[in-house]
Amino acid sequence: MIDLSTEYLGLKLENPLVPSSSPLTAELDSAKKLEDAGASALVLPSLFEEAIEYEQKQLERFVSSQSLGHYEAQSYQPVPDDYSSELDNYLERIQQFKAALDIPVIASLNGISTNGWIDSGKELQQAGADALELNVYYIAGDPDTSGEEVEERYLQLLTDLREHISIPVTMKLSSQFSSIANMVLKLQQAGAQGVSLFNRFYQPDIDLETLQIKPHLDLSSSMDSLLRIRWIALIRGRVDLSIAATGGFHRAEDIIKALLVGADITHLCSVLLQKGPEHIAVLKQELQYWLEEHEYDSVTQMKGSVSKSCAINPAALEHCNYMHIIKSYSQ
Ligand SMILES: Cc1cc2nc3c(=O)[nH]c(=O)nc-3n(C[C@H](O)[C@H](O)[C@H](O)COP(=O)(O)O)c2cc1C
Repeated sequence: MIDLSTEYLGLKLENPLVPSSSPLTAELDSAKKLEDAGASALVLPSLFEEAIEYEQKQLERFVSSQSLGHYEAQSYQPVPDDYSSELDNYLERIQQFKAALDIPVIASLNGISTNGWIDSGKELQQAGADALELNVYYIAGDPDTSGEEVEERYLQLLTDLREHISIPVTMKLSSQFSSIANMVLKLQQAGAQGVSLFNRFYQPDIDLETLQIKPHLDLSSSMDSLLRIRWIALIRGRVDLSIAATGGFHRAEDIIKALLVGADITHLCSVLLQKGPEHIAVLKQELQYWLEEHEYDSVTQMKGSVSKSCAINPAALEHCNYMHIIKSYSQ
């Protein structure tokens, strides 16, 4: 029997198939289907700092408008007792998932300011989250902000948070850093137990009739996985933290490649939105067949065997075949 188990963020997982944040991991019903199909852990959708801030502002406005012009209303308590905030709902979801599922539940925070994250992070830990993923979805569009300052924000956030919580923390990064490998190393040194490579930035589109910017969300395809596979191959063996591959992992082949270059797990999102939670069972079986066919005993044995440090031709992962690829193009 092939051993599919893997270790991620210090958690022993039954296999490397972990649904990432998506509407499927938001509801207990679909989360149970994911677990039944073989998911070895799951990441909840992100708790958005901006949603919490917006809610707080709305509440403050509500309270102050209630008291405006009503002397006797100063002591009036307009917030109903059964009011539950975004954070309350999130904490409740963690508790509910932890009670109903056997697999680890990873919470996810999206934001950029330290204060919000520390308070929320502490509460997520207390509610029972097994680990925390920080999804820093930050577009550095200000020409006055240097790359170094952007990196410093990530590192500061992580350092501050690490001082206050003890569960493992992983950073979900975009690929848009000048030196991804160096950034991952700095995150490791600042206390990250893992990185998730890479988040997908959703590209806004322009409506040519209204000339308005319109939000636009495309699901990924297998092609997106190649960027992740290359970078994981380059850094595995050079850094010492867990690596999750996310973005474009649709087929068992994509997952196998990620593991061969050294990913500890592969996250699944678009493929499950397209094919349903049950599709995990198919991927798991195909992974198992491939290992059997290629005479591997375990995922641990195959993990990282094609990473840059072990690859026969590491230059192929970098730039050396660029000229060859362009010249070999034929229509
Ligand atoms: C509808 C939808 C909702 C998502 N919500 C979140 C989220 O709340 N937090 C997060 O970190 N990523 C979120 N993601 C990103 C996914 O978790 C995943 O990283 C990304 O889609 C790349 O993986 P894929 O190619 O398998 O889809 C979302 C993606 C989709 C399609």
